[in-house]
Amino acid sequence: CPQPLLGQKLLDWYDRHHRDLPWRTTPAAHAKGERADPYRVWLSEIMLQQTTVEAVKAYFRKFTERWPTITELSAADPDDIMKAWAGLGYYSRARNLKKCADLVVAAHQGKFPESEAALKALPGIGDYTAAAIASIAFDIPAAVVDGNVERVISRVFTVETPLPAAKPEIRELVAATMPEARAGDFAQAMMDLGATICTPKRPVCLHCPLRDDCLALRQTDPERYPLKAPK
Ligand code: ADE
Repeated sequence: CPQPLLGQKLLDWYDRHHRDLPWRTTPAAHAKGERADPYRVWLSEIMLQQTTVEAVKAYFRKFTERWPTITELSAADPDDIMKAWAGLGYYSRARNLKKCADLVVAAHQGKFPESEAALKALPGIGDYTAAAIASIAFDIPAAVVDGNVERVISRVFTVETPLPAAKPEIRELVAATMPEARAGDFAQAMMDLGATICTPKRPVCLHCPLRDDCLALRQTDPERYPLKAPK
């Protein structure tokens, strides 16, 4: 069943407890019509793919100070990009960064395309990253599903299918929970809830905005979810 009320509770919580991260606008600025820069959203999401938020912050600042726009990144010496990336690991991400910047400049006049499908056609951008950019930068209601979101959703709805088979079911539940407006804030609220409250071990259910709705909390033990298929 659709759960738009859950989405609203999550947004109300995000307004009060969102993390201030250098690639975000605040919910208040967003409400006034200010949008996150797609270049900064893209760069942060690529960096965050295999790296923690804390480790990404300094690299993100270094990159955006040196190359404030995608046009400047595209004009950079590839060796300088690789050197600036050193320490973040998974270096194919850095190589794709330059390829993607070149293509956005050459084929899209330096502006990221505003659809999930067109974003997915760019180097280094898969399902997750396309949905994240579409929702956070353009407020397109895309289902953004990372590990945090999988955990929150499987607990709230007691998803009894183990991962990874549960992924389609989880996507549908995310879509049903999503409010009509503020797609980007909703996606980032899910991530923040998963990172700070609905943690893998010892979740802080007492402070959770979804505690009255969470089936796992009511029925059993939230830590039991998400179920994982035996390896
Ligand atoms: N992890 C991946 N993307 C993120 C984002 N936009 N905010 C916080 N954590 C994230």
